[in-house]
Amino acid sequence: MRSFTFAAAALSAAGLVDASSSPSKTLPKLAERASSLPTVTASGNAFWAGKTRFYVRGIDYQPGGSSDAADPLADTDICSRDVKEFKKLGVNTVRVYITDNSKNHDTCMQALADAGIYVIIDANNPLYSINRENPGPSYNTPYLQSVFATIDAFASYTNTLAFFSGNEVINSTADSTLSAPYVKAVTRDMRQYINKRGYRKIPVGYSAADVSQNRMQLADYMNCGSDDERSDFFAFNDYSWCNTDFKTSGWDEKVKNFTGYGLPIFLSEYGCITNGRDFGELAALMNSEMTSVYSGGLMYEYALEANKFGIASIKGSSVSELPQFSKFASALSKNPAPTGDGGFTSTTNSQACPTSDAGWLVSDTLLPAIPTGALAYMSKGAGTGPGLSGDGSQNSGETSTGYASPGSGSSTATASSKNAGPTLMGPMDKSPFVVSLIVFMCTLAGALIL
Ligand SMILES: *[C@@H]1O[C@H](CO)[C@@H](O)[C@H](O)[C@H]1NC(C)=O
Ligand SMILES: *[C@@H]1O[C@H](CO)[C@@H](O)[C@H](O)[C@H]1NC(C)=O
Repeated sequence: MRSFTFAAAALSAAGLVDASSSPSKTLPKLAERASSLPTVTASGNAFWAGKTRFYVRGIDYQPGGSSDAADPLADTDICSRDVKEFKKLGVNTVRVYITDNSKNHDTCMQALADAGIYVIIDANNPLYSINRENPGPSYNTPYLQSVFATIDAFASYTNTLAFFSGNEVINSTADSTLSAPYVKAVTRDMRQYINKRGYRKIPVGYSAADVSQNRMQLADYMNCGSDDERSDFFAFNDYSWCNTDFKTSGWDEKVKNFTGYGLPIFLSEYGCITNGRDFGELAALMNSEMTSVYSGGLMYEYALEANKFGIASIKGSSVSELPQFSKFASALSKNPAPTGDGGFTSTTNSQACPTSDAGWLVSDTLLPAIPTGALAYMSKGAGTGPGLSGDGSQNSGETSTGYASPGSGSSTATASSKNAGPTLMGPMDKSPFVVSLIVFMCTLAGALIL
């Protein structure tokens, strides 16, 4: 179990100029920063880079971890140090949990594109997130402004692969499932914002904890209801391999159960460290036993932190590669992305909304309406983001006043508020709640819950 608590962090100023990116005098001007990657789209239950099926062959990237919340893509020294390592590994994607939506990311995003690497961005950060212990008040206008500003910060890069609308907000406690309607509303709002602002259709989905009591319910919930309320993909953090095999790990059953899910699925974290670590996960993920349902995954993680999952030990500008670094690189090269379509399904479909039970407390399918102030950002834009040193959003600001009417069409439609419905507040919302610093839902790494 690797649960982190975010603490407020002073951010070091970013951005020294990367000498290697200055234009060469012998090259025509056009060559300068001209590199771009084909954009990735979700179609059927798979991702596509142009006409080629795209598999996530990536790594989770947050040097400093959650206790030192800093944006590695806003600091040229940091990203250029690490992109060299990513190239050695041969990854095609990095996931970044904490970014600063008030900063510029041009240089780092370009360096990644030049290395053939896509980026998946978590839209939340320590100060701006949904609080699973009291979700209603945390779904508010200042929060959504930060989320939307993060979209603005990354939408223009061709190598932005996707956005996560949340990470492990719902965990193994039954009460935490009551935050699912809010997470789903955030997903809806992000998709709508991308559409309304005229950005390309960057996929949005949720990164779930792998919890046996709610695994299928949560997945189904994120893909049920009207099109505007469903996600573009589903992802979860899976730590069940532990140097075993396809059957012992239970991955065979997860393939079976997710067959026909109707959207792309990938592992947003994997890489159990029990029983040693040979990254056999990759052989399975790239094999036809999984590719009809899964689109790869992200190994947790690049930078070594106290939890010992990292494969690179970092001190200032120097990186030392741990033995697992070359093991991961070799697993990637031994298990290339399959050619062909991997047996994907060309159509998408929704799932029936789950019924409530002891482990899944959501009995309603209605979602909270977007707070009025946040709705205005759809037409005027989110403006300057608060970055990582703003006032924070939990328990502050204007909240939702009722349900949205479902099926307000597609993600082009604006969810409208319908005040007639019963209150959305679940049992957790009614209990007294004490704010103690920023010790909320932000679990950076998956919890090992089998
Ligand atoms: C799940 O969430 C609850 C409420 O925030 C928290 O107390 C608990 O530690 C979390 N459990 C895990 C396994 O992360
Ligand atoms: C797969 O589905 C079956 C039947 O619903 C269920 O009993 C089992 O726990 C599921 N397995 C996993 C790994 O979710």
